[in-house]
Amino acid sequence: MAVGIFDSGLGGLTVLDAVAKRLPDVPFVYFGDNAHTPYGVRDAEDVYALTTAGVERMWDEGCDLVILACNTASAAALRRMQEVWIPPEKRVLGVFVPLIEALTERQWGDNSPPREVAVKHVALFATPATVSSRAFQRELAFRAIGVDVEAQACGGVVDAIEEGDLILAEALVRSHVDALKRKMPVPEAAILGCTHYPLMEDVFRDALGPDVQVYSQASLVAESLADYLDRHPKMRGPGEEAVFLTTGDPRVVSRRATQFLRRKIEFAAA
Ligand code: DGL
Repeated sequence: MAVGIFDSGLGGLTVLDAVAKRLPDVPFVYFGDNAHTPYGVRDAEDVYALTTAGVERMWDEGCDLVILACNTASAAALRRMQEVWIPPEKRVLGVFVPLIEALTERQWGDNSPPREVAVKHVALFATPATVSSRAFQRELAFRAIGVDVEAQACGGVVDAIEEGDLILAEALVRSHVDALKRKMPVPEAAILGCTHYPLMEDVFRDALGPDVQVYSQASLVAESLADYLDRHPKMRGPGEEAVFLTTGDPRVVSRRATQFLRRKIEFAAA
């Protein structure tokens, strides 16, 4: 019936917001697994089990195409899902590749051999599970040579955002940026490799300083989805209305989502 947007909690709303603005006629089904957030401290098996359960719920809602608007799920589960789990008539896409294509100055689907790119020193901010998967470095190595990546596992930030404690989230972001800068004093680019982090983008930018180019996924994913739906119009589905589902408490999740997106969002129980 529609295109699905999956996240462990509220972070995917940053992607939902961008894709809904870019594609105002497409009905989206959002699924937040708030009862099990954060994914970033779970092992790959656990992330796989939770992600497949959530995506299955979106199949039931009529989605033929689901975007994993969650780097942790994209890093820890997507490859295995694509190899053994997704039925042939369905598609699940992650959020890494559009970002890496932008960083490596590539058009969609350019599979030519890795080459030198302008950016040489990249700071990656992501959840502990995404950092330990090394999925970002792997995808980058397929496309670029000579790029030095320093990764900072940003423990605690997702929990603080999910709990609505933005003062704690800000303090944690500043301390993670400090820690990163001790390892890589002058990054040229910073990747916000978790879809929760755009909610703290101003703090990241302020802590990193004006000379660091910050790559945030939402708008890149929106462009890439618009391009995909142009090429695969059937995957859009015939749905009419946006739906928001959560495994958490719909009242609490609706309140936080409304606060983050500054427009009324009403979640229902998944
Ligand atoms: N927002 C998700 C991501 O992009 C998940 C964060 C989490 O649940 O730890 O990684």
